[in-house]
Amino acid sequence: MRKKVIAGNWKMNMLPNEAIQFIEELAPLVKDTENEVILCVPYTDLFYSLLTAQNTNIKIGAQNMHFEESGAYTGEVSGKMLKAINVEYVIIGHSERRQYFNETDETVNKKIKAAFSYGLKPIVCVGETLEEREANKTAEIITKQTELALVGLTEEQVKNTIIAYEPIWAIGTGKTATSEDANNSIKEIRNKIAKIYGQNVAEEVIIQYGGSVKSSNAKELFTMSDIDGGLVGGASLKAEEFSKIVNFKG
Ligand code: 13P
Repeated sequence: MRKKVIAGNWKMNMLPNEAIQFIEELAPLVKDTENEVILCVPYTDLFYSLLTAQNTNIKIGAQNMHFEESGAYTGEVSGKMLKAINVEYVIIGHSERRQYFNETDETVNKKIKAAFSYGLKPIVCVGETLEEREANKTAEIITKQTELALVGLTEEQVKNTIIAYEPIWAIGTGKTATSEDANNSIKEIRNKIAKIYGQNVAEEVIIQYGGSVKSSNAKELFTMSDIDGGLVGGASLKAEEFSKIVNFKG
């Protein structure tokens, strides 16, 4: 049985004092969950969040990293730097980064490899636009993104990659994919992984759904056969609401 992994993506929100307060409020609310709880926070919150989350079951992740280890890349942060402060997870290839910061399937792949080389666990985002969906290209787009993201990884690394299926039209719009739709897309991704890396690798990969997840729809989504939890944006900014998502009961 795959476990459920619920990750918050704060995006460009939350000051350090707010992050500390949030984690102090969240920790007792989620302490008994069997689900994995991750908060992916802005770089400036990482250190404070890690300190505050010590001795809790909340894991901390970053939202991006550079694929090079160090060098003349002004403004960038490397996987080595994240690992040095004990960050565990890193989101890679979020659609906002693909859309606004020229992230490509190739840089996504490089970043995933770099993440593994420093012992970070990548949460890799894939998802189709509304136009692609309306042209019936969803399966083609998301399986291609998945394939290109994972090129050259070992089976062990693929097993340890978290994939977040986030249809772009559902992000921040209040429009959620139906649970059947999301489950079908995630099955397409899993089948693609099975074709390339084998059925038992595919059975182990955690594949989340993201896009307007909230406490009122979490249970319906997360109890589907192939949806292994969620990557939560807006609803991860309020501790109580996020705790209800984490604590959904199947
Ligand atoms: P929302 O939950 O705000 O739709 O954002 C989803 C997302 O992009 C998480 O990475």
